[in-house]
Amino acid sequence: MDSPSESHGTLAAGPMRPRPFVVVRRWDETADTFSVELRPALGDGSEPSGAPAFRPGQFNMLYAFGAGEVPISISGDPADGERLIHTVRTVGAVTRLLSELRPGDAVGVRGPYGTGWPVDAAAGHDLIIIAGGIGLPPLRPVLYQVLAQRDRFGRVALLYGARSPEEMVFIDELRRWRSRLDLDVAITVDRATESWRGSVGFVTTLIARAPVDAADAVAMVCGPELMMRFAALGLVKKGVPEQQIYASLERNMKCGIGLCGHCQLGPSFVCRDGPVYPFTDVKGLLQVAER
Ligand SMILES: Cc1cc2nc3c(=O)[nH]c(=O)nc-3n(C[C@H](O)[C@H](O)[C@H](O)COP(=O)(O)OP(=O)(O)OC[C@H]3O[C@@H](n4cnc5c(N)ncnc54)[C@H](O)[C@@H]3O)c2cc1C
Ligand code: FES
Repeated sequence: MDSPSESHGTLAAGPMRPRPFVVVRRWDETADTFSVELRPALGDGSEPSGAPAFRPGQFNMLYAFGAGEVPISISGDPADGERLIHTVRTVGAVTRLLSELRPGDAVGVRGPYGTGWPVDAAAGHDLIIIAGGIGLPPLRPVLYQVLAQRDRFGRVALLYGARSPEEMVFIDELRRWRSRLDLDVAITVDRATESWRGSVGFVTTLIARAPVDAADAVAMVCGPELMMRFAALGLVKKGVPEQQIYASLERNMKCGIGLCGHCQLGPSFVCRDGPVYPFTDVKGLLQVAER
């Protein structure tokens, strides 16, 4: 990845300037995925003291000093104004450096950026949330918000699929959510281990049984693009109107604020107009290979 000065001009430029945050906690979710809790570093008083407010589905640009910046969704509670939680899979240079962060270390944060999931628009409807693998972190803020305002929504179903039991994130929380009577949680893995007693198969196989009124449901889907395409097909087959299906897309990003064009997807900039889109807007674009 380019250094920040190559990719973004000077870091002193207003909206491109990361704000310093400090790592409070860092813990492993799986062998290659970790979560990190960040709080704003104590500054000179010129910035607001808390963490910036965000909408479920938005992302921050996280800057690992000396390595570069990457877009990472916010996976914590939108009602928590003090700290930011991010959940990151280690895939390359920047995410590897982020994975080495320890309490007390500094990280730069720009954001929040992008659109969010249409949580308010889903009020009054049934809700079906479908996540594959590392697609759950960008949807967890939706669950926090919906469960905090549970009466505003009809039936709520979470369908989660991971490649194997070891690759499931947020295990303890999934257990807690499964024990709730006001949330239907179904989990499946592509490959079972000996001790796995749950469903085996792709997450899309859970759609037909999801206990929602399909015609009235709003669906939010996040995961690999192939999974999102098949999930949307399964939802439509179940009777969910196509215009009530939303998906979150990933594209390589540099500026995060609609300036560089790096994340262009057809006529749209994913950083500015996405990452959450109505499925009707992106179903053709999902076929387009990333530049
Ligand atoms: C809006 C948005 C939100 C995101 N939210 C999250 C999040 O919450 N958690 C998270 O872990 N990641 C998230 N990502 C993906 C994350 O930004 C990338 O994984 C990261 O930029 C990789 O940077 P790197 O320098 O570590 O790896 P690079 O050196 O850029 O890539 C290393 C290798 O990994 C591959 N790679 C890059 N990105 C991905 C990817 N997304 N999936 C699989 N392989 C990849 C590359 O093709 C390359 O082969 C998000 C991306 C976007 C656009
Ligand atoms: S990342 Fe620069 S325009 Fe989207």
